[in-house]
Amino acid sequence: MKSILVTGGAGFIGSHTVVSLINSGYTPIIVDDFRNANKTVVQGLKKLVEQDLLIYQVDVCDKSKMNEIFEKHVFEGVIHFAAYKAVGESVDFPLKYYHNNLNSLMVVLECMKKHAVDKLVFSSSCTVYGEPKDLKEVDEQTPKVQANSPYGNTKCISEEIIQDYHAAWPMLKAVNLRYFNPVGAHSSALIGEYPIGKPNNLLPYVTQTAIGKLEELTVFGNDYPTKDGTCIRDYIHVMDLANAHVKAISFLEKQESSCCEVINVGTGKGTSVLELITLFESKTGQKLNWSFGPRRSGDVTEIYANVSKAKKILSWEASYSIADALIHAWEWEKKINSK
Ligand code: UFG
Repeated sequence: MKSILVTGGAGFIGSHTVVSLINSGYTPIIVDDFRNANKTVVQGLKKLVEQDLLIYQVDVCDKSKMNEIFEKHVFEGVIHFAAYKAVGESVDFPLKYYHNNLNSLMVVLECMKKHAVDKLVFSSSCTVYGEPKDLKEVDEQTPKVQANSPYGNTKCISEEIIQDYHAAWPMLKAVNLRYFNPVGAHSSALIGEYPIGKPNNLLPYVTQTAIGKLEELTVFGNDYPTKDGTCIRDYIHVMDLANAHVKAISFLEKQESSCCEVINVGTGKGTSVLELITLFESKTGQKLNWSFGPRRSGDVTEIYANVSKAKKILSWEASYSIADALIHAWEWEKKINSK
């Protein structure tokens, strides 16, 4: 069985990708130092995949420890998730973000070259597009813009590092997946998103408010130029996103020569904050306590993915609906609060 190194494999998207990898016959080997992941997720993960998992509790920036891991295993490829991801925090602590997100990537690339592991799937973000000008549907040709947070900038720079490294080490086969808004949880409710502290993203805020952990959801802004005045995003079920990583690995396995691709991963559909709230209430039967507040600085008005490239080159498209994602996220929230 082919082994795939999954950095950040105990995190939200990482843990779901581990499930997809196992379902597709790969052996995931996880590196995660648990600074932003929860061990409860690992317990659920093991139960879900009905097997033990090899997990190295190591900081990906620790080059010597990472080298030891690369010496112990023959990896078919690497899926590199491990990174900080809170936009607001990155504004307050930019160097924390630059140190961690860029060093970890560089360590991964150096180890890959040293050990002749030539396939990389990297977690990028639609944040690289910034605020789309006229067309709100962005494809991979849409120009990247100046990032509006240090976090976003680490994603822009990381894509460039991979591009430059690919030019210098032509063996490298890389796919940068530009995620839109990952939401939901595995349908088993054994794994899901486990935010440490107050959540930054909309759906965990919604589910924690519905369960009573948080008092009220603030909808940031009602005066955007959209159909109902609230921002529009492309929410993608985390299991669909997980499956896209496995498709990306199998795409790289088929490449005879080197490559460096960027690929959008979304549903192609935009949903407003109010639509999401209404759908959550109707699908779960939970009344949500929410009110309008001022705009959050740095928010883009509307963006959603053109997903033609993912369909064409990865043979991948989203299969879950946003309603599925809301139900699964709610089941997960209930589960973690039942203990
Ligand atoms: N929102 C609220 N109230 C909240 C939280 C969010 O109204 O309490 C709104 C936001 O204003 C936005 C929408 O819900 O309109 C989605 O916000 P999220 O924070 O869930 O997601 P973002 O689109 O802001 O952020 C996502 C990723 C980031 C990435 C960014 C831009 O989480 O990693 O997209 O690509 F940088």
